[in-house]
Amino acid sequence: MRKHGQTRKRGQMRTAWATTLLLAGAGLLASSTRSEDAPQSKQYPPGKLGEVVRLGEEIIARTSEHPLSKQYVQNKLNCTSCHLDSGRHPQAGSFLETAAAYPAWSPREKRVITLEDRALNCFMRSQNGIRPPNGSQVSVAITTYITWLSEGSALKMNPNKPLGPNHTPQLTLDGLKPNIERGAKLYANQCADCHSEDGLGTDEGPPVWGNDSYNDGAGLSRVPKLASWLKVAMPLGDETLTTQEALDIAAFVNSHSRPKFVLSEHLPEKEKLGEYNGTQE
Ligand code: HEC
Ligand code: HEC
Repeated sequence: MRKHGQTRKRGQMRTAWATTLLLAGAGLLASSTRSEDAPQSKQYPPGKLGEVVRLGEEIIARTSEHPLSKQYVQNKLNCTSCHLDSGRHPQAGSFLETAAAYPAWSPREKRVITLEDRALNCFMRSQNGIRPPNGSQVSVAITTYITWLSEGSALKMNPNKPLGPNHTPQLTLDGLKPNIERGAKLYANQCADCHSEDGLGTDEGPPVWGNDSYNDGAGLSRVPKLASWLKVAMPLGDETLTTQEALDIAAFVNSHSRPKFVLSEHLPEKEKLGEYNGTQE
């Protein structure tokens, strides 16, 4: 069975990176300041650090089946199901420059949280799973990968919310109202091929509702947030929805049932909420 995520989009991106590298190699590209160019030409750090960056990259692409992360995931999604192109996408769940916004204030938790906390929260909601312990191998690897993508960007901690400078742009809805019936038709024409009529996914796209999708505590379970993400992310490789269409489809998708979020069911046992991993001497 083909894995979700092995898509033509990803192939296109790879070609784009290769082209960038070629151009850069040929000296045709002036020194680039566009953030999305940065990680493409980047080398992994040497030694163990580079290994952990790569481990994090692997985990976010195979979160639901990787031996280090699957025990914390209770759906069929991977981080890259929403953080497209392994977080290198400039808008759709971008991780570019993200680390530079942390520690950040979290209005939801009413405390300052670290990048690690932020990443772990997506396990509880978007992955409908259990929060891995702070300091665990999986947590450190993911955070190391995301931080590496931010290398070189200026630190600017976010005092308002836990979001980096390239987070998915919020659509201005200007009084637009969602229409679920229109959304259903659009979904059948533009989404069902990959996500299936019943929303439960196919080999070409992960589940968008039902038990194996994100729960109702996830960011995407809010219609305006999903609409904003769809606008820049879907249909994969042909992101041409109007704002009204994105809103209608988002309302339709989120009108279906999905797991209910109860915080206590997603936290690890108390003693696993944090742990010390250093040498004991
Ligand atoms: C060509 C196939 C394709 C089409 C068409 C497509 N998607 Fe996707 N979609 C994907 C893939 C693949 C992913 C996961 C991204 C990855 O792994 O790189 C995804 C991810 C998603 C996600 C986030 C993960 C999840 O399953 O909840 C949502 C929501 C979504 N798509 C909704 C839609 C909607 C709504 C449409 C129609 C407007 C649409 N998609 C059209 C392939 C497609
Ligand atoms: C169902 C979709 C979905 C999945 C799966 C998902 N996330 Fe997220 N994540 C989001 C959304 C939506 C946001 C809000 C940021 C945005 O809109 O750009 C977010 C935000 C984040 C942020 C903060 C970004 C910032 O700009 O500060 C981090 C870090 C993060 N996620 C990590 C992860 C990790 C690690 C995984 C896998 C364990 C994961 N996410 C899985 C949807 C998802």
